[in-house]
Amino acid sequence: MNEHEIIRWLREENPDRLAELFRQADAVRRERVGDAVHLRGLVELSNICRRNCLYCGVRAGHDTIERYRLTADEVTHAARLAAEFGYGTLVLQAGEDYGLEGEFVADLIRRVKKEYGLAITLSLGERTETDWRLWREAGADRYLIRFETCNRALFEAIHPPVGKNDLGFEGRIGALRVLRSLGYEIGSGVMIGIPGQTYADLARDLLTFRELDLDMIGNGPYLPHPETPLGRAAEILAKNPETSPAALHPLLAEVGFDYPISDDCVPADNLTAFKVIALTRLLLPDANIPSTTAIATNDKHLGRVTGLQSGANVVMPNLTPTRYRALYEIYPHKSATTESPEETHRTAIAQIRSIGRYPGTGPGGRTHH
Ligand code: 5AD
Repeated sequence: MNEHEIIRWLREENPDRLAELFRQADAVRRERVGDAVHLRGLVELSNICRRNCLYCGVRAGHDTIERYRLTADEVTHAARLAAEFGYGTLVLQAGEDYGLEGEFVADLIRRVKKEYGLAITLSLGERTETDWRLWREAGADRYLIRFETCNRALFEAIHPPVGKNDLGFEGRIGALRVLRSLGYEIGSGVMIGIPGQTYADLARDLLTFRELDLDMIGNGPYLPHPETPLGRAAEILAKNPETSPAALHPLLAEVGFDYPISDDCVPADNLTAFKVIALTRLLLPDANIPSTTAIATNDKHLGRVTGLQSGANVVMPNLTPTRYRALYEIYPHKSATTESPEETHRTAIAQIRSIGRYPGTGPGGRTHH
């Protein structure tokens, strides 16, 4: 598939042709990674972040939210739940929190590996190569770092620089190659329907996944957070459906989103997210592809299962202790913010079984065929 063909699929609206795309992606998923759905227990380790990404609810500038960092015991408790639930992997995710010291995280990794034998995926943002090496040596298996968009101008418009150890656009994508060279399985992804994102941008994102030969690819629709600059820009766009987005540029710049927005942008909806999952499966047949929380948030009833039926083979149930969940509000109405880990687990299993699939066993890393 070339860029042109990907764009055609992303724009496709004919229900029969789309059904055929999803059927094909589902068949490739079954043939290459089977009917097992791998479960990754997600622990949101800290919502402290030094960045100011224009879209994110835990950006440093959002100074009215309460910040937290889990203790080692809280993480170990979540790891024990993951093991009891039969998961093969624990994902440690956080904002870019340098207060999470290299050695603290390395100790966590060693402890979880030793006591529960879980595979460890890290999603801790841009860190030094020293930290990444230390964590790999402590036993971490995989690293997730989304590049969010491969359009440099759009990337720079939504990611103000933070100074020290900021990788910048090229470094962000380069980080994936560094992480791979350290021996990690690597994962990335983008947001779908970022204001200003064109079909060509998104098609190139997909081709970038393939170029990097990613092991894991997680994407989700952009969900406007009202307390962020991009959320305010999205509101302006939504309130002026009759005005050309390009003509709204000055108003958008006023709320902090200074980008020459096109009149032909990708919608931030689940249908587009399912197309992206399907196309990703066709481009990287043996990758691990989650049906993500953003998709589940957009459609609480059918989002997750429809993702699994469009080419995805992974879900990431949230095991963060209930009292912290609402504080990890990267976007509003995030799914499962009031549940206990047990409830989150039961829902995931029921959803997987409801479509004739079953929970995977073992670490569930990428297997090449
Ligand atoms: N809408 C959708 N996804 C978001 N993320 C952050 N903020 C939002 C939002 N408002 C995604 C980013 C990030 C991941 C952890 O969550 O892609 O990499």
